[in-house]
Amino acid sequence: MGVILEARALQRNFGGLVAVDSVSFAVEEGEIFGLIGPNGAGKSTLFNLMTGLTPASGGTFTFRGETLTGMPPHRIAALGIGRTFQNIRLFKGLTALENVRIARHSRTVTGLLGGVFGSGKSRMEELSVEKKAWKILALVGLADRGTELSDNFSYGEQRRLEIGRALALDPTVLLLDEPAAGMNAAEKQTLTGFIREIRARFNLTVLLIEHHVPLVMGLCDRIAVLNFGELIAIGSPAEVQKNPAVIEAYLGAE
Ligand SMILES: Nc1ncnc2c1ncn2[C@@H]1O[C@H](COP(=O)(O)OP(=O)(O)OP(=O)(O)O)[C@@H](O)[C@H]1O
Ligand SMILES: [Mg+2]
Repeated sequence: MGVILEARALQRNFGGLVAVDSVSFAVEEGEIFGLIGPNGAGKSTLFNLMTGLTPASGGTFTFRGETLTGMPPHRIAALGIGRTFQNIRLFKGLTALENVRIARHSRTVTGLLGGVFGSGKSRMEELSVEKKAWKILALVGLADRGTELSDNFSYGEQRRLEIGRALALDPTVLLLDEPAAGMNAAEKQTLTGFIREIRARFNLTVLLIEHHVPLVMGLCDRIAVLNFGELIAIGSPAEVQKNPAVIEAYLGAE
């Protein structure tokens, strides 16, 4: 399948703190690629670098050979890299359907303004956006909750809605930052199957930050381990699980 994402000596300093320390790795197309490590290891910063939310202090990041470092977030998103956030970022005061529709609008030709001024073409788009948004809500198990304010959703439901919002952009790559956080045991169990299902359905490559070790080990094709900003291991779940440096830095402390 080949490499779809590649980090080369990617670096991010915050003053004297090195949050991401010369990290290099390549992700294969279609993989579910896990990113684990202790709190503060630099995992979310790595996602922020990959999505343009934080500028790199050094190194490069490429998507299908195209350099993303230095590109603004909306262009990276438009290239097909979608994400969710560790601290859920849904639009407060909007329904679940509206949250998905707003994301989807950035994909249509006439966009939001066209919707407001109501040209015939935009009304057609409006209908297709609405149809697609309901489809996505069904996919994330929220078909019967579309008209409810997302503020009232449980953590697990909000996380699923946020994944739905990312899917509305037709991503090629999906970055999930702790999707199981705040979910109960049953929801965590369902999440594994759900991530596999969306990968197959949308031909996705998935990068996943997650502290819940059984979920990561059961789901990921390969796992990279960060510690104090450095990549200390990369390999299959079995390889990573028995790596002494990983056990000392992370798994042993569980
Ligand atoms: N905007 C920022 N300004 C200053 N320091 C930051 C900033 N963002 C992150 N850091 C620091 O960079 C380091 C890495 O943070 P990051 O959030 O990437 O860790 P993480 O691996 O995602 O941790 P967690 O598992 O707790 O989410 C931490 O020491 C953090 O305090
Ligand atoms: Mg984090």
